[in-house]
Amino acid sequence: MERTLSIIKPDGVAKNIIGEVIKRLENNSIKIIAIKMIHMNKNQAEGFYTVHNERPFFGSLIEFMISGPVVVMALEGENVIKKYRGLMGATNYKEAEPGTIRSDFATDIEKNVVHGSDAPETAEFEIGYFFNNFEII
Ligand code: CMP
Repeated sequence: MERTLSIIKPDGVAKNIIGEVIKRLENNSIKIIAIKMIHMNKNQAEGFYTVHNERPFFGSLIEFMISGPVVVMALEGENVIKKYRGLMGATNYKEAEPGTIRSDFATDIEKNVVHGSDAPETAEFEIGYFFNNFEII
């Protein structure tokens, strides 16, 4: 069993597709083991994306991520990191496979609807960033 962190980003929440994303998780036997809606402040978003702080898009990414509420979820399943990234599609929606979340709903390389951890170590940091042990079922 593996775990990963999912975020439905401000554009996904604004588009009313929280249910659609969750339906795709459930249809693919991915279990939600923690979930909450939060509105991050600048410090929280910068801390989460600290690995990208030298990138040219960092400032814009932070402004976007604090522009509205997000839904954060810890997910569990076999090979769930790869499986969920497959459901999301490529970071750039133009390169995402048809039928993936980003291909269906993203409008921009930055406003790409969802986030998913890219490796087990990242997942551990990212889940721990938003959830304590009592919040994970
Ligand atoms: P995410 O998977 O959350 O990881 C980092 C985020 O930065 C990414 O999704 C996009 O929202 C954003 N991002 C990645 N690459 C670019 C880019 N080239 N230009 C703008 N934003 C980007």
